[in-house]
Amino acid sequence: MKDTLQNDLLLRAAWSQQTERPPVWMMRQAGRFMKEYWEIKNKYSFLEMCKTPEIAADVTMLPVDLLGIDGAILFSDILVTAEAMGGDLSFEQGVGPRFANPVRTVADMERLSVDCIDRLQYVADAIKVIQQRLDKSIPLIGFAGAPFTILSYLVEGASSKDFKRTKLMLNNEPELAHAILQKVADVTVEYLNMQIAAGVNAIQLFDSWALALSWNDYHEFSHHYNKYIISKLNRQDIPVISFCKGSSVFAPVMAEAKPDVISVDWNADLLNIKQALPANIAVQGNLDPFVLYADKKVIREKILQLFERMRGVDGFIFNLGHGIMPDIPFDNVKYAIEVVKEFRY
Ligand code: CP3
Repeated sequence: MKDTLQNDLLLRAAWSQQTERPPVWMMRQAGRFMKEYWEIKNKYSFLEMCKTPEIAADVTMLPVDLLGIDGAILFSDILVTAEAMGGDLSFEQGVGPRFANPVRTVADMERLSVDCIDRLQYVADAIKVIQQRLDKSIPLIGFAGAPFTILSYLVEGASSKDFKRTKLMLNNEPELAHAILQKVADVTVEYLNMQIAAGVNAIQLFDSWALALSWNDYHEFSHHYNKYIISKLNRQDIPVISFCKGSSVFAPVMAEAKPDVISVDWNADLLNIKQALPANIAVQGNLDPFVLYADKKVIREKILQLFERMRGVDGFIFNLGHGIMPDIPFDNVKYAIEVVKEFRY
């Protein structure tokens, strides 16, 4: 598939091959900073949008058509796997995701289904519609949440600042945490392989909240499962991008799971991280998304500063260190992408 895309910059960078300029996409590029997103969102709930392939495809295509990015990302959410396993999931305006039935006991864990891939068929259907719309122009990135990040939502029942209940479970009932993590990992393998079979060109594994963990806990409760998942993917020519906030600390461990790309948050110097990794692992990142609130002159300077630092490095995908915030001006995002696309090494 990658050989036939009109623009395969992103895949070439993911394979650590030379590119004329860094490819660009942005986490949360299909989202609330676009008025066109709200025109759709005002008519449907977020989960309806995810579960209706035509609508998921419409939203996936917004940043492709309006911003001209080098990679599309499937419109969905990391929590759909947990919903398919039995989580009673809702997204409320201003509240974020909620599970009405948090998983906190052995009985709760036993109720989680692993035989649930049929309930995620709508994602495979969406991927097929999106690929028709993309018509071999740019790659489509599929994704899933990593087990630890999913565990944190299942246990807390919502977003959390300190992950207190989750950490209490890791400390007091590690066997229970492992049983949940293993179930999530098994579903995630099946889910990502379904996405690959449906036609995605790359995969990103989001372990957004691994930064909450100590070094040892990261190995035991996060890395172990991410490595398991990556080892079981039918990768063929599909690069795997591993993301966690905390990658500036955990990158050398993440590399042991053998992803093709590590997505780096903005705390780290990207070149230092890249040079410490095996040469065949590319990096993605790592602009502080808050830069996109600033004046255009500053946006340009900070992007070019990063590019100067990464000059001569094969295997670099430009992205933010985390997702675009909903109130970032659309014009600034568009401008940032223009700056990247005009650049030449
Ligand atoms: O990147 C993209 O544009 C593709 C779609 C995408 C969404 N969520 C859409 C979404 C992706 C890749 C995600 C991943 C996701 N979801 C992560 C990992 C990335 C990260 O940010 O660390 C996490 C932790 C979630 C869980 C989640 N989903 C939260 C915490 C929220 C709400 C809070 C918030 O402010 O982000 C969501 C809802 C969500 N997911 C929205 C979108 C566009 C907003 C829904 C709305 O319109 O209200």
